[in-house]
Amino acid sequence: MNHASEPVLAARWDALAAVLVEYRDVLEQRMVDEAVPPALLARGFAQPLLALSEEAVIALELGGAQAQPPAQLPLELQQLYAAVGEACALPALSGVSEPTRALRRLETPRKRAQVEALAKLTPPLLQGALRVVEVGSGHGHLAREVAEQLDAPLLGLERDVAISARANDLENRGRLSFQAVDVLREGLMLNRGDCALGLHACGELGDTVVTAVAERAKSLLLVGCCLQKQRAEMRLSLNRERALAAELSFSSSLLALSNLTPRQQGNEASRAENVRAREHRMALHALLVQELGSLRFGAELDGIPRRAPLGEFSHMVEAAFRARSLVQPSANRVQQALSAATALHSRMRRCALPRLALGRALETFVLVDRALYLEQAGFEVHVGTAFPQEISARNLTLVARRLGSSASQ
Ligand SMILES: C[S@@+](CC[C@H](N)C(=O)[O-])C[C@H]1O[C@@H](n2cnc3c(N)ncnc32)[C@H](O)[C@@H]1O
Repeated sequence: MNHASEPVLAARWDALAAVLVEYRDVLEQRMVDEAVPPALLARGFAQPLLALSEEAVIALELGGAQAQPPAQLPLELQQLYAAVGEACALPALSGVSEPTRALRRLETPRKRAQVEALAKLTPPLLQGALRVVEVGSGHGHLAREVAEQLDAPLLGLERDVAISARANDLENRGRLSFQAVDVLREGLMLNRGDCALGLHACGELGDTVVTAVAERAKSLLLVGCCLQKQRAEMRLSLNRERALAAELSFSSSLLALSNLTPRQQGNEASRAENVRAREHRMALHALLVQELGSLRFGAELDGIPRRAPLGEFSHMVEAAFRARSLVQPSANRVQQALSAATALHSRMRRCALPRLALGRALETFVLVDRALYLEQAGFEVHVGTAFPQEISARNLTLVARRLGSSASQ
């Protein structure tokens, strides 16, 4: 057992748990309309947040957990950012360098950068492995990268039958194969000599791999994502015996927060374009509510192109009203709706800032919760980022190797 690393992970678990428990009210209260969440009012956060300049808001949005809050924010908010920043600061485990090879079929440049960065971490995990199992393997880009380093068989498990079939049809060197199986339904049975891999293994799949590895396997490389994808209503801590564990169950809607990481350039549009698109959706929603009485948020896009919010607002309104056979609103009403939505969104973005930082704390907590569970089961564990956020914002990585294991164990 690596006693040197134990207090570090346990202390980080405690620090993250303390932050999440302390600010649970802020985390739980999402601003959905004009009403400012009571937690922000009670804590004296609302007024200073609403007074922030656009530049300060953008810096805090992009900075996330590591953002430097402007001096005008009250001490209590400074303390929130300091506590989140400290508990979430993680080392870079790997790095992204210039690509060493051409793109493989169905591989994007971002995916290539991810698998190349992860492959740098695998040699110690593969040492003596009798088999490699990738969970949620998709088209198998990571498996294919790792197969190059390996003599042992490599099996990709993928729920989607068509994706799994395509993965088998791609160029597969070595003893690489893919099987269509729903790991959550069928269960994950690993062997003692297995090295398990998961790249963007979504939600509950991550916990399933971690507990299966703790039970039997030799090593694990895991990057989680989409923590909200779980069948149970709440995610419970894997470390149930720890002091604050009982208070650390999280619903899917809270876990979804950990998927929000604003970036200057997203996959499909820039940050500024996405802000504008959100305002367009809010304004269209308000216009349709005036006509229909009520409408679920999200349904305003029914019947119009998915990317319509990124275009001209007037065109989007025209298309949405036409799709519903409604009389077109006047230009004046359209303009008023857009101005009101822009003002409301500006307030919402300011009030969302503490939740955004806490969302990264939640994501980091799940990582550390898994890591600590493996450490308690006798693994040497490292946590950190395997690639920068620009490659993928879902970059929190866990590397674990059973201590004292040999190939035959
Ligand atoms: C975000 S994708 C990542 C795919 C791939 N690892 C990559 O990085 O390109 C997650 C994959 O896990 C698969 N998946 C989700 N739940 C699963 C389950 N219960 N059993 C097996 N595969 C699952 C999905 O179908 C999807 O292909």
